Amino acid sequence: MRGYFGIGVERISKPMNAGSLFRTANAFGASFVFTLNAYYTVRQGNMADTSHALNALPFFEWDNIDDLILPRGCRLVGVEFLDEAIELPRYRHPSAAAYVLGPEKGSLSDQVLARCHDVIKIPTRFCINVALAGALVMYDRVLSSNRFGERPVVPPVPAKLPKSEDWVAPAKSPH
Ligand SMILES: C[S@@+](CC[C@H](N)C(=O)[O-])C[C@H]1O[C@@H](n2cnc3c(N)ncnc32)[C@H](O)[C@@H]1O
Repeated sequence: MRGYFGIGVERISKPMNAGSLFRTANAFGASFVFTLNAYYTVRQGNMADTSHALNALPFFEWDNIDDLILPRGCRLVGVEFLDEAIELPRYRHPSAAAYVLGPEKGSLSDQVLARCHDVIKIPTRFCINVALAGALVMYDRVLSSNRFGERPVVPPVPAKLPKSEDWVAPAKSPH
């Protein structure tokens, strides 16, 4: 997929959740990360973000939704566990997107939801961890990018396994 994406969190209270999200965002090639009215400290975030994403990516800290400024044409996509949200496997990701996730306790605020062009949900039975939800959205974006083409219809031939007589028994534990 051409384009770019950013990802961030609203009203998060555990910096390590944001750190974990930013680390994954860095790994997936995000162009920017952000917080909205959130409690975040770099020191605590880096306990989860060993990639030190904030040294590699632009980081925006907005106090409220009215401060949020996105590049022209970049769509704000809410990620929230709502009945009316579009299910992620049916969603066509915009080429330029900023994904926003909600706090550990609660949901995206009405003000943020009102600014979102789309709201998507991951088809789970109940809410999952916010950093994990962000990871699934980013993975889905990569999957739907057609970068890897179609999956083969026939399962690939398995790698050659060693013959059973070549197997070496594991050493016995002294206990
Ligand atoms: C742990 S959830 C919020 C907790 C939840 N509202 C509760 O108290 O039961 C934190 C955030 O993760 C995201 N999230 C978690 N599971 C999700 C899902 N299945 N679909 C979409 N977003 C999800 C949303 O952004 C949500 O605001």
